[in-house]
Amino acid sequence: MAKKSPQLDLFNNLAKQRKEDQKFFDRQAQHTTQKLNILQKYLSAYLAILSVSAKYINIKIIDAYAGTGSFVSGEDGSPIIICRELENILKKVPEISVKYIGNELQQDNFAKLNKNLINFPFIQLSQQDAFEFLDNYLNSKEAKQGCNLFFIDPFNYPFHKEHIDKIFNNSNCFGTEILLFVPISHLHRFKDIGNEKINQFLHSYGITNVSSESDFAEQIRNKIRRDYFCAYYLLKDGCNSYCLFFITKHKKGIDAFLNAGYNTLHNEEEKEISLLPLPWTTLGKVVDELKKRSMNNIELYNWALNNNIAPKELRQEIMNNLGNKVFIKYFDDRKHNKTHLYLDYKYDKDNLCKALFSTEG
Ligand SMILES: C[S@@+](CC[C@H](N)C(=O)[O-])C[C@H]1O[C@@H](n2cnc3c(N)ncnc32)[C@H](O)[C@@H]1O
Repeated sequence: MAKKSPQLDLFNNLAKQRKEDQKFFDRQAQHTTQKLNILQKYLSAYLAILSVSAKYINIKIIDAYAGTGSFVSGEDGSPIIICRELENILKKVPEISVKYIGNELQQDNFAKLNKNLINFPFIQLSQQDAFEFLDNYLNSKEAKQGCNLFFIDPFNYPFHKEHIDKIFNNSNCFGTEILLFVPISHLHRFKDIGNEKINQFLHSYGITNVSSESDFAEQIRNKIRRDYFCAYYLLKDGCNSYCLFFITKHKKGIDAFLNAGYNTLHNEEEKEISLLPLPWTTLGKVVDELKKRSMNNIELYNWALNNNIAPKELRQEIMNNLGNKVFIKYFDDRKHNKTHLYLDYKYDKDNLCKALFSTEG
């Protein structure tokens, strides 16, 4: 049998991918559902936090690759999900100002997008190449004010580290956040084969050698983390993998994103109390770290964020195992409600050192 060349493999796979992209809006794939559920949960938390912290705030969600707004199979796409969340927060806090700024290049998709969003009063739509659209927005006064959440959801790999920097350098950077979706399997499989676009992407994130898909995602995160806070969720769909990255200058944003992903992807039924935590489980990682050093609540909270672990998952895993592998000592003599672990943003922000976690009782 003739041996297939890696180049032919790459060509065939990319051609297959292009065909799948054309059918993208026919039926919502599982990873798209997961991605959009995380987006929705994150947005809901993000808008609630912002609307409490400043009443007259100006919030803009910039959807650079917006698509059509809905799927032929009936599900909502990112534009409708975002607009619904904006509508909900406006009902609760009418003083804030919100805007959905969507962009879609393809003519048919753009026409559908316009039709699907017709009832939302706070939309601004354009039909441009995404980079032209982003440049125009970043050159505007609007970008320098209020809060800007960018949703970057292209089909392939056009979005490089330099583009992330450009967004933060040209907007009100402490009010800026980016959600970036990247298909991972092609990158992981074809890193050596010489597709120019893929190579440019890898080069921009400093990737030369990869051992697995999660190693891949970690390398991208580590590159981004030199300048920003960054977290991600790896989404599997059949034999393909995708990664949703979240990038911000605020630790609290990372906390909210990781918890949104945990709430979306975590299956209650799968949960079992583990007496022998395995090294790759969250509890296993916590126990391994606590064997090396005891940590107070602030240190443990930061360790979790640095290791891409949702604070909510950390709390639940520790709570389930308290007194078995993980022990807690409180720093004051007050009677403590044992369900309170002091592992959240508030204690970190106010530097409230409340308890010590260790593997010894
Ligand atoms: C993955 S889909 C977006 C899906 C959408 N975010 C959702 O969840 O409903 C990518 C979209 O980007 C559009 N697109 C492709 N290249 C583009 C470009 N250079 N500029 C703007 N849009 C582009 C495609 O037509 C497609 O609708």
